[in-house]
Amino acid sequence: MTEIRLARAADARVMAVMSRELIEAGLGWRWTPARVRSAMRDPETNAIVACAGARPVGFAVMQYGESSAHLLLLAVAADCRRRGIGQALWEWLLASARVAGIAEVRLELRAGNTGARRFYRRLGCVEGATVLGYYAGVEAALQMRCALRRDTSPGPAAGGAGEDSHTR
Ligand SMILES: CC(C)(COP(=O)(O)OP(=O)(O)OC[C@H]1O[C@@H](n2cnc3c(N)ncnc32)[C@H](O)[C@@H]1OP(=O)(O)O)[C@@H](O)C(=O)NCCC(=O)NCCS
Repeated sequence: MTEIRLARAADARVMAVMSRELIEAGLGWRWTPARVRSAMRDPETNAIVACAGARPVGFAVMQYGESSAHLLLLAVAADCRRRGIGQALWEWLLASARVAGIAEVRLELRAGNTGARRFYRRLGCVEGATVLGYYAGVEAALQMRCALRRDTSPGPAAGGAGEDSHTR
């Protein structure tokens, strides 16, 4: 049984290590424990973890703006994939975004990450532009977005960070 809950300060290190190993591999470590803790303190950011018993097996971080939200990080431990945990994290965040009146969720992923690309497409995201050199100048990002309201018109993706904020 996997439970999804808001992250606590004590989760910061394991979340940061998951980011380094599962998301940022080969790019340097931008989401350090201190940065994860800082995101948790930000009132416009939700950081959540999926726990199997006491073990955090997945996590996600999303920042909420006026009308759009930006998914900064989402990952599931390699030995726990294809059990619906990633989708459950996504749905938790989408439910909170809807309550907040958010019209769309934006995200970036490494262009070569075909598994995540299929995952987000399956969840209703559509693909946008490819941004060359987005990740530390060495890898392109694929922008994706998910409309939560019918009045959301596709336009150029605004700024954004990615698998995360490697340009910030
Ligand atoms: C992408 C990721 C979060 C998916 O997590 P997950 O818990 O395995 O995903 P789910 O089990 O909820 O998958 C839901 C559906 O998405 C699709 N999907 C998920 N992973 C997939 C993959 N590797 N290849 C193809 N389709 C995939 C499938 O349709 C799946 O349903 P199914 O298993 O019934 O076929 C996980 O592979 C991961 O952490 N990858 C490394 C980090 C990463 O790339 N994060 C995203 C960019 S920030």
